[in-house]
Amino acid sequence: MTQALLGKVAAITGAARGIGDAIAARFLEEGARVFSLDLSEPDEKREGVTYLAADVANTESVAEAFSQIDRAAGCVDVLVNNAGVQRVALAENMPIEDWHLVLNTHLTGMHLCCAQAIRRMRERGTGGAIVSIASAAGIVGIPGRGPYSAAKAGIESLTRVYATEVASANIRVNAVAPGSTRTKLIEQGLKDGSIRGEWQIERIPMGRLAEPTEIADPVVYLASDRASYITGQTLVVDGGWTVQGMVHIADWLRVS
Ligand SMILES: NC(=O)c1ccc[n+]([C@@H]2O[C@H](COP(=O)([O-])OP(=O)(O)OC[C@H]3O[C@@H](n4cnc5c(N)ncnc54)[C@H](O)[C@@H]3O)[C@@H](O)[C@H]2O)c1
Repeated sequence: MTQALLGKVAAITGAARGIGDAIAARFLEEGARVFSLDLSEPDEKREGVTYLAADVANTESVAEAFSQIDRAAGCVDVLVNNAGVQRVALAENMPIEDWHLVLNTHLTGMHLCCAQAIRRMRERGTGGAIVSIASAAGIVGIPGRGPYSAAKAGIESLTRVYATEVASANIRVNAVAPGSTRTKLIEQGLKDGSIRGEWQIERIPMGRLAEPTEIADPVVYLASDRASYITGQTLVVDGGWTVQGMVHIADWLRVS
C-alpha cells in the first residue's frame, strides 16, 4: 500500500513527547515531512523531525514558527493541534492563572495555529487537513477538570465551525478525542494522586489505557486522503469509556 501522507508537509504541536511524538513517528512512516512546534526540547530528537521552539498560546511565536516552516518547506499541508497542559482543582480553588493557561494552550492555541495554516492552505489552493486532539474529558464531566474539559469541548466546537468555513477550499477539519493514554500527562496525575490506576481501568470496557500509537493511527487516517469526505467530526478513541453507562453489568449477565 502507498504511504498515506507521502510528500505532505505537516506541522504538529507538542510533538516533543507523548502523543505528539507518536503522531510524528507515524507521520514519518507514512512519508510526511514533519515540523514540531513545542515549548520544550525533546529528551531525544527523533530523526527526520524539525523541532521548532514555539508557544502555541502566543500569537507572535506561532507566526514565527509558521514563517520558519515557509522558509524550510514552502507550504503546510497538514496541521495537528496536539499541545496540551493539565491543571486539576475544584472550581472554587482553581487559580485564575491556571484557568487561563489551560484555555490559552488548548483552545487559543488551536485557533492561532489554524489561522496560520488555513491562510497558507487557501493561498496555495491545494486543500489541506487539520486534526486537533480533543479528549474524552470534553464529553463527560470529570471533577477538577473545569478549564481542561471546557477547552476540549471548545476544540470540538471550533472543529465544526472551521470545517464549515474552509470546506469549499477542500480543507478538512477534524478532531480525535482520546481516552486515558499512557504518557507523561497521565504519569503526572498518577504521581499527584488526581488519577488512580484502578479508577481508570475499572471504567474502561477494554480494560486498559491506550498506547500513544493507538491515538496516532486515527490521526494519520483523518489527515490523509483516505478520509477525503470526512470533515467537522470528532472521532472518540477511548476503549469504550464514554459509551459505558453501568460498569460490571456485562460480567454479571455472563455468569448469571
Ligand atoms: N494522555 C492522555 O491520557 C490524554 C487523553 C486525552 C487527551 N490528551 C491530549 O493529548 C494531547 C497530548 O497529550 P500528552 O499526554 O502527550 O501530553 P504530554 O504532557 O506528554 O505532552 C504535551 C506536549 O505539549 C507541549 N506543550 C505544552 N504547552 C505548550 C505550548 N504552550 N506550546 C507548545 N507546546 C506546548 C509540552 O511541552 C509537551 O511536549 C494534549 O492535548 C492532551 O490534552 C491526552
